[in-house]
Amino acid sequence: MGVIFQSLGRTILAGVVILAVILGIGGTYGKIGEPFYWQFFMRWLHVLSGVLWIGLLWYFNFVQIPSMPKIPDEQKPAIGKVIAPTALFWFRWAALATVVTGLLLAWLNGYLVQALSLQSPATAIGIGMWLALVMAFNVWFIIWPNQKKALGIVQAEPEAKTRAARVAMLTSRFNTMFSIPMLYFMVAQQNGGF
Ligand code: HEM
Repeated sequence: MGVIFQSLGRTILAGVVILAVILGIGGTYGKIGEPFYWQFFMRWLHVLSGVLWIGLLWYFNFVQIPSMPKIPDEQKPAIGKVIAPTALFWFRWAALATVVTGLLLAWLNGYLVQALSLQSPATAIGIGMWLALVMAFNVWFIIWPNQKKALGIVQAEPEAKTRAARVAMLTSRFNTMFSIPMLYFMVAQQNGGF
């Protein structure tokens, strides 16, 4: 077991193997050829990437940001130089993967244009998609460029660094606020929609 859990890659692979075994025992491999399977498969990929993205957003807002004032100054570089850059790497690529799989899912479901133009009966998912698209825009075009300055990944004057850290933090808070209605509308479509 230690051999598996000491490596993140092997742990993820073990999860996929467990899924394959359960599907094999249940005899559900046959479903793979069925018309709706790829739609369902895309939904699974979409939820996986969405959970990684919003999980990290909530980690920043529930754990990292409130903990920073309690960490002694000499220990702060561990967060700024090691943990935050790694978390931001997965955060921004998970956001992109969620957008791509979400748009593909809407297309496979046959309502991409209807949802983006907020037409019934895809209005609920359309609202969820627009909220999530604004959040993804914020990640790539506001949070990440400002975090690069704040964390010293790109050069900036001390004053510009402080301002960048504040803009990144406030935008991250904005996204946390949006995540509440976004997730409501994301799951509403399956439950009747409107
Ligand atoms: C721009 C980004 C996004 C787009 C375009 C998008 C698109 C979609 C679409 C088209 C569906 C299928 C709705 C249906 O017919 O039931 C869906 C479902 C879902 N999405 Fe998203 N989504 C996005 C972001 C997110 C995020 C950030 C999360 C966070 C976890 C998320 C979680 C979910 C969940 C849980 C479902 C429901 C799956 C189910 O009911 O089986 N989505 N999304």
